[in-house]
Amino acid sequence: MADFQWEERTDPSQKEFNGFVTPFIISPKPGAAHPLEFWLNELEKHKEWLARKALDHGVVLFRGFPVVTPADFDAFVKVRGYTPMEYLGGAAPRRNLVGGVFTTNESPPHLFINFHHEMAQNPKYPSHLFFFCERPPTTGGETPIVVSNEVYKRMKEQFPEFVAKLEEVGVRYTRYLGDGDDHTSTIGRGWQSTWLTQDKEEAERKCRSLGATPEWQPNGSMKVQSAVLPAVRVDSRNGVKRWFNQLGVAHPEHGWNDSINKPWHACMFADGTRLPEEPLRWMLNMMNEIKLATTWQQGDVMHCDNMVVLHGRNSFTGPRSILAWLAE
Ligand code: FE2
Repeated sequence: MADFQWEERTDPSQKEFNGFVTPFIISPKPGAAHPLEFWLNELEKHKEWLARKALDHGVVLFRGFPVVTPADFDAFVKVRGYTPMEYLGGAAPRRNLVGGVFTTNESPPHLFINFHHEMAQNPKYPSHLFFFCERPPTTGGETPIVVSNEVYKRMKEQFPEFVAKLEEVGVRYTRYLGDGDDHTSTIGRGWQSTWLTQDKEEAERKCRSLGATPEWQPNGSMKVQSAVLPAVRVDSRNGVKRWFNQLGVAHPEHGWNDSINKPWHACMFADGTRLPEEPLRWMLNMMNEIKLATTWQQGDVMHCDNMVVLHGRNSFTGPRSILAWLAE
């Protein structure tokens, strides 16, 4: 990387998939103690190269750059030409801080968040997502990653009939949105903050704009059934088949489960039949085997290609501030 002011680094958490090491880690060269402005210029100059790295490796981790505040993080992403995506229809409780910067899922620290592609339960989902470590936790709290085409390959080998049916009929997701937020749940966004409105009719309109069907319940919650969505997608950039879905939401122990949601109806085959439990349990065990989880350091910026990798959240102790930026 002769032309660059940064250099490649290694970390014990790295693993190899498809002939590429993940995450791809870069840091300023020794002695390159430049201000943020300098690095913004470098990022802009090499934006195509960086996007290519994200596609090949799935994740690019920027470590040791002078990113301190949420506004720094916003500039760090925006300078590469990304447009922030409105967080409409997402499940996690989160707040907008500045520009495209949001807090990440604010659910209780002891909860593990199962692997997912961001907003894969919607027809419209972010192409890339970025995380910024403002404050690392005392223990745990990594953002574990699995490479999606590897998951597809292994699932197809182990459960060929199940995967064939998924590819043939697709899936539908059902989520009940409470009347107001439930901060004890990882999917506790009520209908008001899911649709960014207090108005029921507007909420319905926005829900339908995503191809989903709303239905009000006697307890004031809104049942939202997604459009029929594919569970496997072909990446148009290179023809690779990706396991692009939220099947984890139907996992009996780690799925969408709170006072109003139950895993078995969170995701079903689009023909209305239930997903068998065995492949879901096997899938999570397999993902835990092949995952990589890099320990967060203050100032880290992680760029995930949302088509290439799934991410989750490990449980943690101590205060933790990981911010997110979702790109159209
Ligand atoms: Fe996420």
